[in-house]
Amino acid sequence: MITLTHNIESFDSLAADRIVRQIINKPDSVIGLSTGRTTGAMHRILASRIVDEDIDVSRVTFFGLDEVTGVDPTFPGACVAMLKNELIDKIGYKDCDFLMLPTSSLDFAGSCREFADELKSRGGIDFLVLGLGENGHLGFNQPGSPFGCTARVTDMDPALYSRLCAESGRTGLRGATLGIKDIMHARHILLVAKGANKTQIAAQMLLGPVTEDLPASVLQLHPSVEFLFDADAAALIPENSIC
Ligand code: GLP
Repeated sequence: MITLTHNIESFDSLAADRIVRQIINKPDSVIGLSTGRTTGAMHRILASRIVDEDIDVSRVTFFGLDEVTGVDPTFPGACVAMLKNELIDKIGYKDCDFLMLPTSSLDFAGSCREFADELKSRGGIDFLVLGLGENGHLGFNQPGSPFGCTARVTDMDPALYSRLCAESGRTGLRGATLGIKDIMHARHILLVAKGANKTQIAAQMLLGPVTEDLPASVLQLHPSVEFLFDADAAALIPENSIC
């Protein structure tokens, strides 16, 4: 399903509302979140609604889809820091039910396996919010990632790498991420994309071939996915395919 919103405020509040509905329908949901420019406002609206409407999240598991490695977890560009700042700390959530891949580990392969196993032991992913990379990446799964890949550490795209290295003063940063196979096992996916920098890639994701060269194109094969766009991101998508 494709949903189009006509302004940024309704985009952010509709996205937050989808998560609220998931929590109300299944109070022990396992919910995956993505960080970045697209999702920050949505997380803040979600936090306000949880507090203002006294929504019970005591049985919810929130987790992050991916993480920057080689930085301190308090580095503002780390996914854990962003999610804590935008959502988790605002709702007074218990850390044990907020799961993240680590920013550092002596055994990343083992840490990634443990993370994926923990999600499985909680019943698997009920609801997963995905951002859309400008090159079609999902999480840190860059173009060329095999559709069968699972949680692991990969290289990030060069633009993000340069920005995060400059901000952190470090080099050698990489990205820990759930793999495409893990993503495709989520029961429901909400793909969010807004802004003119996503126009081309959103159209290619939906209208082009399903190919590992464009990881997000795999979502064409998922049985339960909603694509939420603002007018800019949806500019090249034919009107008759939009609800
Ligand atoms: C980043 C993250 C993704 C995120 C995506 C979109 O690299 N690793 O998890 O969803 O790119 O980011 P933005 O919303 O800032 O465009």
